[in-house]
Amino acid sequence: MASNPYTPGFGQRPLVVVGRERQLARGHETLLTVAGTGRASTSPLVLLGVRGIGKTVALGLLRDDADHEGFVTVQVRLDRISSAAQLITSGTAEQIAPLAAQGASGHWRRFTELIAQLSIEVSIAGVVTVGRRPAEAAPDVLTERQVLARSLISAAQLARGHGSQGLAIFIDEIQEARPNDLVVLVNALQDALTAPSTPIAIFAAGLPDSPARLMAAGSFAERFEFSMLEPFDARQATAALVGPAVRVGVSWDAGAAELLAEESGGSPYLVQLFGDAAWRAGRPASGGVLSRADADAAIAASRESLQAGMFPGRWARCTDGERALLIAIATVADREGIAASEAITAALGKSGTPGWSRVRSSLINKGYIVPRGRGKLGFSIAGFRDFVLGIDDSAETLEADAMSRLRFEQLPPGELPPSPEDGER
Ligand SMILES: Nc1ncnc2c1ncn2[C@@H]1O[C@H](COP(=O)(O)OP(=O)(O)OP(=O)(O)O)[C@@H](O)[C@H]1O
Ligand SMILES: [Mg+2]
Repeated sequence: MASNPYTPGFGQRPLVVVGRERQLARGHETLLTVAGTGRASTSPLVLLGVRGIGKTVALGLLRDDADHEGFVTVQVRLDRISSAAQLITSGTAEQIAPLAAQGASGHWRRFTELIAQLSIEVSIAGVVTVGRRPAEAAPDVLTERQVLARSLISAAQLARGHGSQGLAIFIDEIQEARPNDLVVLVNALQDALTAPSTPIAIFAAGLPDSPARLMAAGSFAERFEFSMLEPFDARQATAALVGPAVRVGVSWDAGAAELLAEESGGSPYLVQLFGDAAWRAGRPASGGVLSRADADAAIAASRESLQAGMFPGRWARCTDGERALLIAIATVADREGIAASEAITAALGKSGTPGWSRVRSSLINKGYIVPRGRGKLGFSIAGFRDFVLGIDDSAETLEADAMSRLRFEQLPPGELPPSPEDGER
């Protein structure tokens, strides 16, 4: 068997990258401008998209580009338990330390004094340690903002002074940050990006509800550039499926590839999952061909793994109202898994329920359903519909109970939808 060329994992770089030209070109322009002018980019570029659409991969490609263009690059992934300021400054310290060691400067001393305020220390050997700090000893939001901004500014200038073009920061899972951390982050970015002679570029990635969260944290976020990563079209999905195999000398039966491309609904993650499963079914040697039977086996195997893992995980994280809406969509969807709004409303049995649109956008933000043309909704992963329909014998009582709760589910205006849990793959 030739070695398996598929990458069905979280953030795993595909052997053949498909699409995303627009985002990569935009990022490249930004880097060239910062390098050419020695000034900050005008706004951060934030990649948006549902789970598994390829945000982490695209962010990694932008980072490679920045490395290639001679930037000092820093990549962090935000989470709900860490201080965003601490993560970003400690990551920056790690990348800057080797440069600074080439000639300890006043800039470097200032930088280390600043980050010490966030309990971050750098040893003479350049090893960065992040101290634990009791909640009451944590700096306030204003201090964190100032320290983060100043340390980014001084790191960018330090990088430039040591033969780099500047500093490029990559922030993944931006929607995960706690609200106060987002306030710190948005305001510090504003300070850093408007400081004179500061060659810095910021790139981020997050779920589709990130703009609302960022804007709630600071009005400067209105000036961020947001770019939505879309699902693959049929041609791209086929290329993403067939490309990796071709690289290792294996081809695909055209019908089999078409079937899987369609079944993926354009999800890059599903394309990789199917490719991987078909590979394991067909065990092709170099020169071999993956067949229709391998494709059928891949669909069956992937369904089984999704039914056992991702789908129950998703279901467990839904509120009763969300479940009611999922059941309604699943019940009235056509053969392609697409349902019209009127039919959904009719199935819910109460037209114009106020909580409906709130629940709908929460499910869209989680990436479980997607708008499909005007007034229509579909499942982001086709198999989820079958899962929802097959929930279990008690589905009917659950359904009635959930429907009755849907009407009470309207949240106070302005409140953000709950953040989806990570790690569902
Ligand atoms: N441009 C691409 N071409 C081909 N495959 C891709 C592409 N982008 C991502 N993939 C594949 O899709 C899967 C998901 O990618 P990635 O982890 O970057 O998504 P994500 O949007 O960051 O997901 P999450 O929201 O869960 O973090 C991986 O298996 C990856 O190999
Ligand atoms: Mg990711």
